[in-house]
Amino acid sequence: MHRRERFSRRHFLRNAGTTAVLGAAGASSLVRPRSAAAREGIGHPDGNPDRPFPPALDDYDFDEVYERKGTDSVRWDRAVNQYGDGIVAGMGVADMDFRAAPCVTRALAERCTHENWGYMHRPDSYAQAVAEWNHRRYGLDIDPSTIVFTTGVHPGIIAALHTFSPPGTRVLLQTPTYSGFYTDVRFSRTVADDSPMLVDADGRYSIDWDDFERRARRCNTFILCNPQNPTGNCWSAEDLTRMGEICLRHRVIVLADEIHCDFVTAGNTYTPFASLDKELVDNSLTFKSASKSFSLAAMKVAWYHSTNPDLLARTRLNTRADLSTLGMVASRAALKEGEPWLDDLLSYLDANHDFAASFVRDNLPGITHRKGQGTYLAWLNVAEFADRIGAAGTAERESAEGTDTRTPEQVVQRWFAERAGVFLNPGSSYGTGGGGYMRMNLASPRAIVERALNNMAAAVAEA
Ligand SMILES: Cc1ncc(COP(=O)(O)O)c(C=O)c1O
Repeated sequence: MHRRERFSRRHFLRNAGTTAVLGAAGASSLVRPRSAAAREGIGHPDGNPDRPFPPALDDYDFDEVYERKGTDSVRWDRAVNQYGDGIVAGMGVADMDFRAAPCVTRALAERCTHENWGYMHRPDSYAQAVAEWNHRRYGLDIDPSTIVFTTGVHPGIIAALHTFSPPGTRVLLQTPTYSGFYTDVRFSRTVADDSPMLVDADGRYSIDWDDFERRARRCNTFILCNPQNPTGNCWSAEDLTRMGEICLRHRVIVLADEIHCDFVTAGNTYTPFASLDKELVDNSLTFKSASKSFSLAAMKVAWYHSTNPDLLARTRLNTRADLSTLGMVASRAALKEGEPWLDDLLSYLDANHDFAASFVRDNLPGITHRKGQGTYLAWLNVAEFADRIGAAGTAERESAEGTDTRTPEQVVQRWFAERAGVFLNPGSSYGTGGGGYMRMNLASPRAIVERALNNMAAAVAEA
């Protein structure tokens, strides 16, 4: 049966040594070009003499368990802060547990050889790299002069909300949807208007068109999520066109968040909103970054673009982005050289998806799951299981006793954190329709995904 696996501190201790070695060796070992490091036998600043640094472009192994605990990561360390050191699988926030793509580490190491961090002038090569990536991967032609850089997709969306949605007005969302949109709405003093999607018995989501159009009539903007976080839906050209037409009819500007666009599972495709008919595209802005695709979230670089000069100019007026040199260097390197790494990663993640889907089916009674078409997230239907552990009753009691409202999904989160050492995101934070679900991040080495699922199965078996 499934035995609960505990966290091994071996990797972490090895990494803790890293910091010491880095400190002792100083910056010089960090910044030497690879050939010099290899010649002098310096090896990696983590203390491993056999690992060249910076790594060769093809030097990566997605199976490697790369310890992140103790590195101030939201995904692991915030989960530990909340539930204690028993957390052995942080499967929450959407970033990846792998070592960065070698092209990124190489570009950063090279830039660090120049020890000056004054204001950065941004050459055209950055916007050019974004345009070329979209052309190569999606056949989408973007005029580089229409690309506006931001310090994240959130700041871009907030700038657009400030521009087109006056305080107090409604913003259309298709729910369940990315929890961060609710913070964007709060930040812009607007109000979320949830249009719940329909879900069939197999867990397939679709749009409730009547509801969508009814709400569109009273909104100024619609935040589209494509591919959809958390359900994993990749919207078809037909669906996108229908959304676009409704929005155009009711003068709703489409804010297309396509940050997950590079993650599509086998047999599925991502259709950029910006590839639709011109009049629909002219009614939209698209928000993207390399931060999901290459897990560069803390590097704080993203961008938006639009074919409509008026929408673009007005949004630009509300956009101030103080970008960091290292963030820009990392993003450009990823877009220019990271494709082979990303393509290998996509096959790996697809296999993680398949593994999780069959494991949940075979070993987690009361929990169901349908493999997503996109993203690296699994959207688990835990409604039956939550009933079994009386999550609704517990939530109700704790809400009555405390100052905050507790949801049944938060109770399920605590249950798995305490009994399985696994941190999952509660579906209740994803808006209307998120109740009864938990979101699990699968962007980890297989061993971590297995550890999480095995631990969950062992805990469920004892429930
Ligand atoms: C759909 C979506 N949009 C935006 C973000 C966050 O973007 P950023 O970190 O660039 O602000 C996320 C992160 O999980 C996301 O899933």
